[in-house]
Amino acid sequence: MKRWLFSAAFVVVLVFAFGMAYLALYRDVAKERCQELGLPFPTVMAHRGASYLAPEETEWAYRLARAAGADFLEADVQRSKDGVLFVLHDDTLERTTNVKTVFPGREKEPVSTFFWEELSRLDAGSWWNQRHPERAKQEFANARLLRVEELVDLALESNPPTGIYLETKSPEHFPDIETDLVKLLSRRGYGAPSRRPELRGKLVFQSFSADSLRKFATLTKDIPRIYLLDEDMVQKQGFGRLLSIAKEVGHGIGPVGYFAYPWHTHRAHAQGLVVHAWTLNQGWQLRLLRFFGIDGAFTDRSELAVPLWGRGKTQSQDELWQKALASRKDTDYSAKKP
Ligand code: G3P
Ligand code: CA
Repeated sequence: MKRWLFSAAFVVVLVFAFGMAYLALYRDVAKERCQELGLPFPTVMAHRGASYLAPEETEWAYRLARAAGADFLEADVQRSKDGVLFVLHDDTLERTTNVKTVFPGREKEPVSTFFWEELSRLDAGSWWNQRHPERAKQEFANARLLRVEELVDLALESNPPTGIYLETKSPEHFPDIETDLVKLLSRRGYGAPSRRPELRGKLVFQSFSADSLRKFATLTKDIPRIYLLDEDMVQKQGFGRLLSIAKEVGHGIGPVGYFAYPWHTHRAHAQGLVVHAWTLNQGWQLRLLRFFGIDGAFTDRSELAVPLWGRGKTQSQDELWQKALASRKDTDYSAKKP
């Protein structure tokens, strides 16, 4: 009996040791592929900006993310009724603006029913101060919704430029939004390596919609495209099928974190796909999934991920805030016209 137990324990230890060694050797296997695409490795995407420190998808969230050293400013692109592209996560304005006060009764309306002039009157920051009093700042009150054009300005202000990682959010609500977006970005030099070589690898498209990524593929074949995956999609279609779609429409997958098991990441890598998991906000999650081989992560805590993954130094929240304030100079986004 004792001998049997000893043998079993030996096998378990052996399998564990081999597993650990394999993962340690395996974790950088897609580095070269990322470099081919112009992506830093491992990549830190500031999810809705530095959204732990400031109201999501506002100028302040993106200034703080840039100061933290995030590789990419992540944003969800939507379109106003009169065709202005801007960034916002939800389908309605209720959660993250004061729409209820400014346009009573319209808080459940889709954002696509609002003109930009209306959207530009909303306060997208005070809700955050109320919800997070310990991190509130008076500058966040009255923060405005941000046009994509302004996000690009912010990204290009730094030297070298910060990347932008743009999601078409509910693209079925915005027919041909991909064309509008590519036109805007082309005007600013993205996708034109001979004219703006410094912008290579500074733009990524992402979507839960394979159709949306297909459209981007016809418009700009060289810009990396990431197919986002959630639990529901994996359950309904199966991981293997989703990998085939990802390979057809893009360059990688963006799985929800708890689906980024090493065997899933391994299968994606075997097909030449990069793996960017969302949304990892705890140190242990960032460490563990990186050990499991992911190539990058969307995180609300870019100020945590950057030093943890050896991509930059640790900075205090106060240091970051001083940098964000200093970077603002005289820019007044609320006064700009589309
Ligand atoms: O874009 C990656 C991840 O952010 C997808 O989730 O809902 O935050 O856009 P969501
Ligand atoms: Ca997103």
